[in-house]
Amino acid sequence: MIDTMKAVRLHAFGGPEVLRYEDAPMPEPHPGEVLVRVHAIGLNPPDWYLRDGFRSLPPEWQPHPRFPLIPGSDISGVVESVGEGVTAFAAGDAVYAMARFPADVMDGGKAYAEYVSVPVADLARKPERIDHVHAGAAPMSLLTAWQFLIDLGHGKPNPFQPFRHEPVPLAGRTVLVNGAGGGVGHLAVQLAKWRGARVIAVASGKHEALMRDLGADQFIDYTSTAAEAVVRDVDLVLDTVGGRKTARFLSVLKRGGALFPVFPLGFDAQDEADRLGVTVSTTQVRSSGAQLAEAARLLDDGTVRVVIDSTYPLTEAARAHERAESGSIQGKIVLTAA
Ligand SMILES: NC(=O)c1ccc[n+]([C@@H]2O[C@H](COP(=O)([O-])OP(=O)(O)OC[C@H]3O[C@@H](n4cnc5c(N)ncnc54)[C@H](OP(=O)(O)O)[C@@H]3O)[C@@H](O)[C@H]2O)c1
Repeated sequence: MIDTMKAVRLHAFGGPEVLRYEDAPMPEPHPGEVLVRVHAIGLNPPDWYLRDGFRSLPPEWQPHPRFPLIPGSDISGVVESVGEGVTAFAAGDAVYAMARFPADVMDGGKAYAEYVSVPVADLARKPERIDHVHAGAAPMSLLTAWQFLIDLGHGKPNPFQPFRHEPVPLAGRTVLVNGAGGGVGHLAVQLAKWRGARVIAVASGKHEALMRDLGADQFIDYTSTAAEAVVRDVDLVLDTVGGRKTARFLSVLKRGGALFPVFPLGFDAQDEADRLGVTVSTTQVRSSGAQLAEAARLLDDGTVRVVIDSTYPLTEAARAHERAESGSIQGKIVLTAA
C-alpha cells in the first residue's frame, strides 16, 4: 500500500501562491466511504473563499482550521477501494461527487489531490457519455441549481433563513437567471428550460452565443442594459451573483413571484419584498449522491451540458485560481489529476 500521494495543500491563508503542490498522506476509506483515484476536480467559489480565510464572512463565521489542509469538493474519478460496509460501489467504477459539503467547507473538502475518500451518500456513478473533466466540473454547480430550482432533497436546517427553501413551479413560467454564464447560472438556464420555463439569461455580452445555444429565450447584456429597465412580470429570478444588489430584481417580478439569491449575504430589502408580495428564499447547497445520480441521466442524454471555461493540471492549481480571480468565468474551471 502506497502511503503518500500528491495533493495541493494550504499551510496558511492567502492569495493563489499559498496553494502548494506537494506530498500528502494517502487517505484511507473509513467505513461507509470509497477511496477514489481522482481524474478531474471542479473548482468552485468556496475553494477561493477558504484559501483566503473566508475574509468576506462575518468574523464569527471565519474558520480556524488546522493546517495543512486540502481544499476542494468536486471530483470525478475511479473507485480504487471501498471501506467497510460499502456494497453499492466496487473498485473500477467511474464515479463523481461533491464531497462532504458543507460539512468540511471550513477544513477543506480534500479534493485537490490524486486520491480522496468520499462518503457513499455523496457519490454517484459518473454519467457514461461525458468525460471526467465534464463530470468533475458539474457537482456543486449542478446540485446548487437542482436544490434551488428542482428539489431541495433534505430536511436539514437552513443556515440563511428560518424556513425551508421550496422550489417553485417552472413549467410555462418566466424565469430570469442572473450570472447566467457562470457555473451555477449556465446549468440553471438548462434545468429551467428542461422543466418548461421561458428563460431570460442575464450575463456579459461574451456569453450571448452560448446562452442562445443552451436554449435561453432572451438575453440581456448587463454591461449595456439593466434587466430592471427592460423586463417585467417575471415569475422567478435566480440571482447567482446575489449580494446587496439582488434587491433591484424585485421590480421585475410579478406579485406572487419569487427571488432566489444564490449568494444571499447582504440582501437587505425584505420589507420591500413583503410590500411587493415577492417571496425571497435561499439555501446552502448540500452533498447528495442521489441527486447526482438523477442528474446524471440529463448529462448522459445531452439535456444538460457542462461548459468548460478552462482546464489546468493539478500542479498548476495556483494558475487556475488566478483565472478564477480574473472573473467572467464561462462555465467551469477544472483541474486534471490523472
Ligand atoms: N447558496 C449556495 O449554496 C451556493 C452554492 C454555489 C455557489 N454559490 C454562490 O453563487 C455565486 C455564483 O457561483 P458560481 O459558481 O456560479 O460562480 P461563477 O462561475 O464565478 O459565475 C459567476 C458569473 O457571474 C457573472 N457576473 C459577474 N458579475 C455580474 C453582474 N454584475 N451581473 C451579472 N452577471 C455577473 C460572471 O460573468 P460575466 O460578468 O462575464 O457575466 C460569471 O459568469 C458565488 O457567489 C457562490 O459563492 C452559493
